[in-house]
Amino acid sequence: MEAEPEFRPDLYRGTAHFYDEFRVPYPATLLDDLCRRANATGEGRLLDLACGTGQLAFGLASRFAEVCAVDQEPEAVELARTNARRRGVGNVRWVVGRAEDIEADRDFDLVVVGNAFHRLQRRRVAEAVRRGLTPGGHFALVWSRSPWDGDREWQRVLARAMRHWTDRADAADRVPTDLDRHLAHEPHAVVLTAAGFAVVGEHDFPTPHEWTIEQLIGFLYSTSVLSKPALGAHAPAFEKDLRDRLSQIAPDDVLRESIDFHYTLARVL
Ligand SMILES: C[S@@+](CC[C@H](N)C(=O)[O-])C[C@H]1O[C@@H](n2cnc3c(N)ncnc32)[C@H](O)[C@@H]1O
Repeated sequence: MEAEPEFRPDLYRGTAHFYDEFRVPYPATLLDDLCRRANATGEGRLLDLACGTGQLAFGLASRFAEVCAVDQEPEAVELARTNARRRGVGNVRWVVGRAEDIEADRDFDLVVVGNAFHRLQRRRVAEAVRRGLTPGGHFALVWSRSPWDGDREWQRVLARAMRHWTDRADAADRVPTDLDRHLAHEPHAVVLTAAGFAVVGEHDFPTPHEWTIEQLIGFLYSTSVLSKPALGAHAPAFEKDLRDRLSQIAPDDVLRESIDFHYTLARVL
């Protein structure tokens, strides 16, 4: 069995504020649907792995008695903690750590990973999650499609600009070269099945959304490839270039799309 590709651990350094402000929240319809299918009654325990600044943990905290949210990026966890205090969300334990290192023993009713499973050592994490779930517990991989990943004209322009600035900033190595091949060879469902899960559903939530150019720039600063540390001294020229390219297509500063939100639900066999 081939080794899983590894990402550098510091790729989200410098992104937390942008992540928190510019990522589009998971729609309530998705969260409600997930809670219904996973039998979240308000009494159980939730584990959010690779939680970032808490996009899933905050969205789901009211449906669980206790939540544990883990991310390896200390800046993300610190911002989540601050926001939890500010919002009066007191049932989440925020932990700096690697998803691969969790040690749970039938502690959780639901484990979620939002937009991050491909970044993890998936086999090891899936095994650990299975051990950490209560009998009949659920594991959900939650995703949203990125704004440049579509066939609208502005999305193609955005994708071209990203390729240009990724090259200029020499940031291409922030994604392992063999990632796509590896994921095609061993899809998430195969990893889940091998770890003792049954995939019980795939659920789509297309959601109309309008961006401004400044919001898209903020979104790109929240990514691992075009974060401010990745761009370094190129950041001002990158912003100007994006404004120039996108304002030619959208002089009214409205860029529309339908964001594909999606989750895969698996249950312990
Ligand atoms: C795209 S963000 C997803 C954040 C959030 N879960 C969401 O749904 O938007 C990816 C996150 O995965 C975290 N991450 C990547 N590898 C990790 C690992 N091995 N253990 C813990 N966190 C990890 C990064 O620090 C980053 O915060």
